Amino acid sequence: MLSEQGHKVDCIDINTEKIELLKSGKIPLYEPGLADYLENNIKSQRIRFFDSYSQINPNTEVVFVTVDTPSDSLGNANLKNVYNAVSEVSERVNQDCLIVIKSTVPPGTAENIHNYLSNKGYNFDLGVNPEFLKQGSAVSDFLYPDRIIIGVKTKLARAKLEVIYRSFIDKNIPLIVTDTVTAEMIKYASNAFLATKVAFINEMAGLCELLGADIDLLANSMGMDHRIGKEFLKAGPGFGGSCFPKDLSALIRLAEDHNVKLQILNSVKESNYNHITNIAKKVEYVLNGVQNKKIAIWGLTFKSGTDDVRNSPAIDIAQLLVNNKAKITAYDPMGMDNARQVLKDIEYADNAIGAARDAEALLLLTEWKEFKNQDFASLKSIMAAPNVFDFRNLLDSELLLRYGYHVYSLGKKSIYKV
Ligand SMILES: NC(=O)c1ccc[n+]([C@@H]2O[C@H](COP(=O)([O-])OP(=O)(O)OC[C@H]3O[C@@H](n4cnc5c(N)ncnc54)[C@H](O)[C@@H]3O)[C@@H](O)[C@H]2O)c1
Repeated sequence: MLSEQGHKVDCIDINTEKIELLKSGKIPLYEPGLADYLENNIKSQRIRFFDSYSQINPNTEVVFVTVDTPSDSLGNANLKNVYNAVSEVSERVNQDCLIVIKSTVPPGTAENIHNYLSNKGYNFDLGVNPEFLKQGSAVSDFLYPDRIIIGVKTKLARAKLEVIYRSFIDKNIPLIVTDTVTAEMIKYASNAFLATKVAFINEMAGLCELLGADIDLLANSMGMDHRIGKEFLKAGPGFGGSCFPKDLSALIRLAEDHNVKLQILNSVKESNYNHITNIAKKVEYVLNGVQNKKIAIWGLTFKSGTDDVRNSPAIDIAQLLVNNKAKITAYDPMGMDNARQVLKDIEYADNAIGAARDAEALLLLTEWKEFKNQDFASLKSIMAAPNVFDFRNLLDSELLLRYGYHVYSLGKKSIYKV
């Protein structure tokens, strides 16, 4: 997308397979709309791909470091890849190159990297430019960001990043210029806050079920208050993905290192964990145990619009049911290949209907639109029992009830038929 803005972009990844795919114009992940931009920019020779740092152009003006920053066993952000990438770059580009950390890194990392490079005799300028895209809508999130955050140490770094983001500045998209530690903190605090919203609404869903209130009406009405906002206020099977869980843990750990207990965020983490396990327990309760029962799962990715199953609640829930000897058959429009790598003890179906055949219960766990448009009238005849657990509140529950299903939604006691 930076090449689409007219910049000449060289991309380096140590994963040769990915680079080979990208060179041939293929995206190694599912992200709607991205392939067209890639094709255009390869044709216009604005973007190139390399699998070795030896091919880096020494005159590169700005390097964005976008490598993964996974959790270590204690929940800290593991910065090994960031340091490896920065080291490789520092040895090959001219000293006037600006190194920008785009990976999500704990506050203080850019400063630490600056010192690390200084100790090695380098004097690179460091910047921080956190990324706020959402998987599934990455292209439009890039093109129409709410704001762009740059953390810089020098006026020159600011000027270079203003050149990169010129087309956005000209469209009056807010550019917030801060020091590096604040930029790093903005990203962590934003993700932690969004995770908090999700955990909050899921807790409200639990209460709505008991009280007979409707979580969707509640969330929509709350969200209409601009102070609250409707985004990330949708009840579901819990937050997951490659960012929220790891960023939450890293922030909690970082605070602990400074003898601060982030009470809210500790609770959010616990609440999300409990929510996911409670969903599996609810299925067990309604089905009177799951041992040897055939259960269909629709949706394995952590959200729709992506093939990413990292920390997906759907995978966790499937695994909890497998642990209790359920026989799972799953289907996901995009996430099957990735799911097969992490979830071994289940069957995979070629389509949604195939997954539900002979099942005693159907669990909808990811909000793919295609699940909404299935032929539920005939689906019922091929299921062993008509139990539908809609953990995304995606389906038309009134219609399903008319067809004779038992419908279990989130936060909606009134539509239960038990
Ligand atoms: N995925 C998102 O939606 C998203 C959104 C905002 C921010 N982020 C942040 O962006 C960063 C990357 O996330 P991701 O989901 O793209 O990770 P990813 O694991 O999908 O991709 C990281 C890539 O970095 C490559 N890599 C690792 N070490 C390398 C090295 N030394 N040199 C070159 N390449 C190397 C890997 O081969 C891999 O292709 C993380 O810090 C994440 O928190 C991600």
